[in-house]
Amino acid sequence: MSSWSEGYVNNVTYTHGYYPNLNPRQMIIPFLMARLPVPKVVNACELGFGQGVSLNVHAAAGRARWYATDFNPAHALFAQNLADKADPEKLLIADQGFNEFCRRDDLPEFDFIGLHGIWSWISEDNRRIIVDFVRRKLKLGGVLYVSYNTLPGWSAHAPMRHLLLQYNKYSSTVHSQEENTANAIAQTETVLSHSHVLLQNAPDILNRTQKLAQQDRNYLAHEYLNQDWQPMYFADIEKSLSEAKLSFACSARYLEDFAECLYDDEQRRLMEETQNPSLRQTIKDFLLNTQFRSDFWIKGRYLLNEEELRREWAKLTVLLLKPRADISYQITRHRTIQLSAELLDPLLDILQDYERHNVGDLMVQLAGKVNFAQLTNLIALLASLEELALVQDEDTIAAVTESTQKLNLELLERSSTHHNPIVHLASPVTGGAYTFWRMEQLFLLAHARGIPQAQWTQYVWGILQNLNQVMIRNGEALQDEADNLAELSQLKDQFVAFKYAQALRLGIVPA
Ligand SMILES: C[S@@+](CC[C@H](N)C(=O)[O-])C[C@H]1O[C@@H](n2cnc3c(N)ncnc32)[C@H](O)[C@@H]1O
Repeated sequence: MSSWSEGYVNNVTYTHGYYPNLNPRQMIIPFLMARLPVPKVVNACELGFGQGVSLNVHAAAGRARWYATDFNPAHALFAQNLADKADPEKLLIADQGFNEFCRRDDLPEFDFIGLHGIWSWISEDNRRIIVDFVRRKLKLGGVLYVSYNTLPGWSAHAPMRHLLLQYNKYSSTVHSQEENTANAIAQTETVLSHSHVLLQNAPDILNRTQKLAQQDRNYLAHEYLNQDWQPMYFADIEKSLSEAKLSFACSARYLEDFAECLYDDEQRRLMEETQNPSLRQTIKDFLLNTQFRSDFWIKGRYLLNEEELRREWAKLTVLLLKPRADISYQITRHRTIQLSAELLDPLLDILQDYERHNVGDLMVQLAGKVNFAQLTNLIALLASLEELALVQDEDTIAAVTESTQKLNLELLERSSTHHNPIVHLASPVTGGAYTFWRMEQLFLLAHARGIPQAQWTQYVWGILQNLNQVMIRNGEALQDEADNLAELSQLKDQFVAFKYAQALRLGIVPA
């Protein structure tokens, strides 16, 4: 470990993931469902951005100006290179540790500060630095997004992480970190399989260790092999954040607060009987044995009245993201519930044209069939399942389209030269990112380069040939050119059937 890394893994870089919860727009629906006012976000901050995919998406596709840091220079350089391709004016990227970044005197006050996958993996000193930063720099009414490993959910399996760390600590520097991670998993599995008494306490721990072997090694190193790793009870993080004058707002996903999907009747009764809001969160984590929380916290809190709430909802515009046939009436979280077709069908009948629909208009169109509470509940559920998205206002869409499409073009071009593409493309229409697999990206690249649809398969096949790659069908590499073209042609037809039009509607590439 180098001195700047403070015991944090720095010999392998992090994955190129996208985390929608880091998008300030993600708060809109859960906030309204909790009757909370949603702040306008002008300045936003991300601490520990990893490869900066989420950061770049949100800077390019949203209105806020971003300020962000990650002390790993490889991460910061990657993020900066992406930003340079889109619009570098919309974000400040630093490669400073939190101790240095949080003391900068050129940062504005923030409406939103986000940290994903950070809180549990840094030292107590760094947590204190962040709390102090939030206290000084988060505006009144501003929002903190923080995710963290939670107790009691981690209590039974924490020994697994401890053993992984010990084996990694005593591993040889001659081997790569990837090899050491693989060895640590294998050795942890061996020890646990003989830890009979421990297995009686935590019967699932072995199964869980075995599953690690299938996960991305770089992700595992960042998740489990840092010097610091501290799962926490809700009450402990609440105590820390109260020093920055924050109160708990809600989960980042409405589904995580939707009682019908979480609790059985007795558990619901217990939750309803628990009046104190902090104690309710603790009880929730015990009832569900929560292992990971992703929450919003606010500085200053009041509740909207019924009239204000309706007005806020009526301003929103939504867009259906999935083919209607793929929308399930069943939702499973801790429990499975069935959505009423009598309520959902009239809404989907309207949304299935894939146009943008204003929620105020939907209230009028659905009057007599679906009331306000039912409508907002359905929208909130569909949004938390990523089956529906909120649309940004017209001015914002016009202002961010160019930077977003430039970012996407860079990602699409990357797909044509890299084996492992970044599978997330940004939408100026919603301000978020959506998954497009490699071949889908190459078809979009063909579109962006003005190649007629009839030639897309040949075009993509040319890219694969340059990289000495072939298609795989049923686990078998296709050697024959005709087989490759047939496989690509089938994928193209699937893409054109829905996702291509969706990409155009989302403004991912110019039409
Ligand atoms: C688990 S990764 C999460 C990355 C990103 N937030 C995401 O979810 O994709 C944690 C990141 O925090 C960075 N980091 C850890 N400690 C830090 C510190 N003290 N100062 C700045 N960055 C830090 C690491 O380099 C790493 O990229």
